Amino acid sequence: MKKKVYVKSYGCQMNAYDAERMADVLAPEGFIETDCADEADLIVLNTCHIREKAAEKVYSELGRLRVMKDERAAGGNAPTIVVAGCVAQAEGGEILRRAPAVDLVVGPQSYHNLPGLLAKARRERVVDTEFPVEDKFDHLPAPSRDKIRARGVSAFLTIQEGCDKFCTFCVVPYTRGAEVSRPVAKILVEAERLAQAGVREFTVIGQNVNAWHGEGPDGRAWSFGALLRRLAEVPGIARLRYTTSHPRDMDDELIAAHRDLPALMPYLHLPVQSGSDRILAAMNRRHTGDDYRRIIERTRAARPDIALSSDFIVGFPGETDADFEDTLRLIRETGFASAFSFKYSPRPGTPAAEMADQVPEDVKSARLATLQEALETDRQRFNRATVGRTFDVLVERKGRHAGQMAGKSPWLQAVQFDDDTVAIGDIVSVEITGTGPNSLFGKRAGAAEAADAA
Ligand code: 5AD
Ligand code: SF4
Repeated sequence: MKKKVYVKSYGCQMNAYDAERMADVLAPEGFIETDCADEADLIVLNTCHIREKAAEKVYSELGRLRVMKDERAAGGNAPTIVVAGCVAQAEGGEILRRAPAVDLVVGPQSYHNLPGLLAKARRERVVDTEFPVEDKFDHLPAPSRDKIRARGVSAFLTIQEGCDKFCTFCVVPYTRGAEVSRPVAKILVEAERLAQAGVREFTVIGQNVNAWHGEGPDGRAWSFGALLRRLAEVPGIARLRYTTSHPRDMDDELIAAHRDLPALMPYLHLPVQSGSDRILAAMNRRHTGDDYRRIIERTRAARPDIALSSDFIVGFPGETDADFEDTLRLIRETGFASAFSFKYSPRPGTPAAEMADQVPEDVKSARLATLQEALETDRQRFNRATVGRTFDVLVERKGRHAGQMAGKSPWLQAVQFDDDTVAIGDIVSVEITGTGPNSLFGKRAGAAEAADAA
């Protein structure tokens, strides 16, 4: 009989990608995926450690799972419970102590060993948070064509992992380790396989994606811009995106790729974190607010229709009202199409957690509310400006209502439009007629004329 696995992923897109790879590793072992934990034989929580709230979520989930496991144990079908991802890496054996229901703890660099680890976990509770010398990507089975199709026409592709930048607030260098770039040839094999199965859009991902570097097939050193150029040539690929990038790695070649590659979508997620030079220095970002403004200016000159998105942290230790004003000023001057913003959360083992002048919680909350209001105003302005315009939409799924389809604009906006003659994976021209809180609405451009002519 087939066994069922339920994988729940928290946090970033890298984790979403890893969750799929874990399902791929388990497929040859006879596991099929389910989205219902109650019927699963194996439950994997793929965790995030970036902020305290994210990490604590795991323990509340594990509390619920413990009750479920005990109940099912009475019927003789207790599920095996695995904690994977960044909390697994950061806390290791501590998880076994805090959460008695957990059978196996596996870090983000070891999940290719899941079958062996699960066999071992039948006998004893296991922790594997090694950073093995061999490359886990070499041990991951390729997903089947059907599986790739079922996952949709837009896919993630990991090209780089880890980070050497050591921003003083961030756990990533500790949970994901040093920066490692995957070799060009392996990235291309994966890209071609996905494209052949019907993927039309790649989001190339890495914790520091634009720090990617490697040796090209021509024997020369390639930067990320060169890799994007090559990926744009993969047959079938219509759209390329990337995330998440660091301002220090926005080099000339990458900016030129935005100018030259029609497939590279006009959308850049470039975290700035703060607009205050004092805070940026304390964060060890190694760029100023003006450095960031210059990069934006140059990228906009290369690709005038580019939309920007960013990450912000409020209440970093020592942040004054004046520092916060600098962040608001940068937001007003730049005009972001979208953004993520967070209250600073002290993380164990990071330098900022030990800094004096931690900002009180109520000040953080007030600043976050002000910041989010400013960002939301800009987001809605950006969305409203699309009304009356016509542009390409990549069709991803059926829409909410009968006769509708749903997809994405070049600027990553969700678009619902009236027409059910198109197929998933098509790229069609849509005229935007209105906006909702989280999507745009439209109709197929030219569809009425075609009907008249018929
Ligand atoms: N507290 C709050 N936000 C954080 N981020 C990273 N570490 C922390 C932290 N300790 C945010 C940054 C980063 C995003 C992924 O999460 O804005 O870009
Ligand atoms: Fe969270 Fe960072 Fe790990 Fe992604 S890499 S899951 S954001 S801690």
